[in-house]
Amino acid sequence: TTVPKYVSSLLVPPTMPGTPGADLDRYVVSVRQFRQQVLPRGLPGTTVWGYGAEGVRGTHNAPSLTIEARVDRPVEVTWVNGLVHGTSGRYLPHLLPVDPTLHWANPGGGEEGRDGHPMFMQTPGPYTGPVPIVVHLHGGHTDEESDGYPEAWFLPDSRSIPRGYARVGTHYDEMAQTYAARHGGTWAPGTQKARYGNDQPAGTLWFHDHALGITRLNVYAGPAGFFLLRGGAYDLEPGVLPGPGPDGGMPFEIPLAIQDRAFRRNGNLFYPDTRAYFDEFAGPYVPHSDIAPIWNPEFFGNAMMVNGRTWPDHRVERRRYRLRLLNGCGSRFLVLALATDPTARPATPVAPFWQVGGDGGFLREPVAMERLLLAPAERADVVVDFGAFPAGTEVFLVNEGPDEPFGGGEPGEEFEWADPATTGQVMRFTVVDRVGPETSTPPDELSLPAPPPPPGPTARTRTLALLEADSEVLADVGPRAAFLGVMDGAVAVPLGWDDDVTEHPGVGDTEVWEIHNHTMDAHPIHVHLVQFEVLDRQADGQPSRPAEPNESGPKDTVIAYPHEVTRIRAHFDKPGLFVWHCHILEHEDHEMMRPFRVG
Ligand code: C2O
Ligand code: CU
Repeated sequence: TTVPKYVSSLLVPPTMPGTPGADLDRYVVSVRQFRQQVLPRGLPGTTVWGYGAEGVRGTHNAPSLTIEARVDRPVEVTWVNGLVHGTSGRYLPHLLPVDPTLHWANPGGGEEGRDGHPMFMQTPGPYTGPVPIVVHLHGGHTDEESDGYPEAWFLPDSRSIPRGYARVGTHYDEMAQTYAARHGGTWAPGTQKARYGNDQPAGTLWFHDHALGITRLNVYAGPAGFFLLRGGAYDLEPGVLPGPGPDGGMPFEIPLAIQDRAFRRNGNLFYPDTRAYFDEFAGPYVPHSDIAPIWNPEFFGNAMMVNGRTWPDHRVERRRYRLRLLNGCGSRFLVLALATDPTARPATPVAPFWQVGGDGGFLREPVAMERLLLAPAERADVVVDFGAFPAGTEVFLVNEGPDEPFGGGEPGEEFEWADPATTGQVMRFTVVDRVGPETSTPPDELSLPAPPPPPGPTARTRTLALLEADSEVLADVGPRAAFLGVMDGAVAVPLGWDDDVTEHPGVGDTEVWEIHNHTMDAHPIHVHLVQFEVLDRQADGQPSRPAEPNESGPKDTVIAYPHEVTRIRAHFDKPGLFVWHCHILEHEDHEMMRPFRVG
């Protein structure tokens, strides 16, 4: 079946309902399972998971309704694991095949296996138990107890959970106690509390699931959403950029979560349940186990989805729009352009993107771009002028990134383009006449309130490594896992999730992290807690080159190219336990994640 394109209209996620208090905003947000029309009408619906305001009908959606937050006004969210059957209260199993052999949350592994190693797996066969979740605000300057540590996962509060199952991860109680000590209250079973201080520049944050070793599947099923932080010293006055429409009309600011998916004939999500790649490594790599591993090192869907609908169309007036782009894919790097011919390759861009902001705030100056490279988890705040087109023009957002791991280089030269008939197209804008005047500032006349870089001096420089390695290197985790590690002189030392913490920035320290990529692929490296400065990159034996012009603002995710050193500089000002990791979710789930502790 071919899925027709541009027949669904884009969903602009409405604002999540919350309860404003005297000095903070409160939300109760649950993850639930429901059917959603992801494919066009006439094709089957899709069973998904999504966040929504608990008890408020019609607010559960994938992606989530948007949380609107103000700088310096805290937001408190009670996250609820609502993955239970609506009437019986029985837990719902995962929608997708869970690989029980990874080092993952593993609630059914008993006390030893909780978060544990595959060798402690007790029940053979694919995991069909209740689903662990934990929520992370990506890009947030968040205290440790609210950050969604991967081992602070929790199950739904359901009486159907078998005896012997761990209901929470190894770090849940500790985080709950720290939270109680700081803010009071207790965490009800099946919930996680989080307080986001929003003491950081205005930016495009997002939240998503982060449970250990199962994040790729949880996020693929749907739980992700925008958290737009506005106001403060590093935002523009309302109206300078294209914004909300008059009287709640068509908004001129639109968040776009771009994600790849694959579907079964019955409309449900497809994710491989066999180990499809690297067959030479497909042997029984789990010590003392005959369970077949099904983890794949990457996954690329063959359909593109924007805000939860495949290949949507959106009517835009002949005026400027502010688009908040998020690459929400698990593995896929996007190379985006606007073109009137959706299939020509190379694409002929017809309108520049003016990028004004990145992950965590504004750039130093607007950057006109014809192509925008966006790695998984990166965001770009862009202005597009649809006034450049006559009414009736169809402008396509196309993708010239690869349908395979990204190694860097120019589209078409070093990798195959995404299939122009499918994943090479993302969405369509249909230009209609403008209603009312254009009032926003032309992008080339904007002066942007870029936040200052992390304060100096630099306390130390760490040399860190990205690696792929076989089971001989780390016995328990299986072959071809992607690792993080440290450089010991010229030698890269892989370290597993369970190895002792090696990164201990002092509270208030600014550090340079040099990330040495020893693999063949580019990896988007994300550091929790901080927004960092991208300093430079350096290939073997070459002089260093500065950060790209569109990396001049605060970043929380940076592309580390193969055989290069990527240098970032960050200020660590909150004590506690956090993580840094690759944001290719398949990598993150299989050892490409490490804890670090501040203080
Ligand atoms: Cu977007 Cu550690 O996550
Ligand atoms: Cu990676």
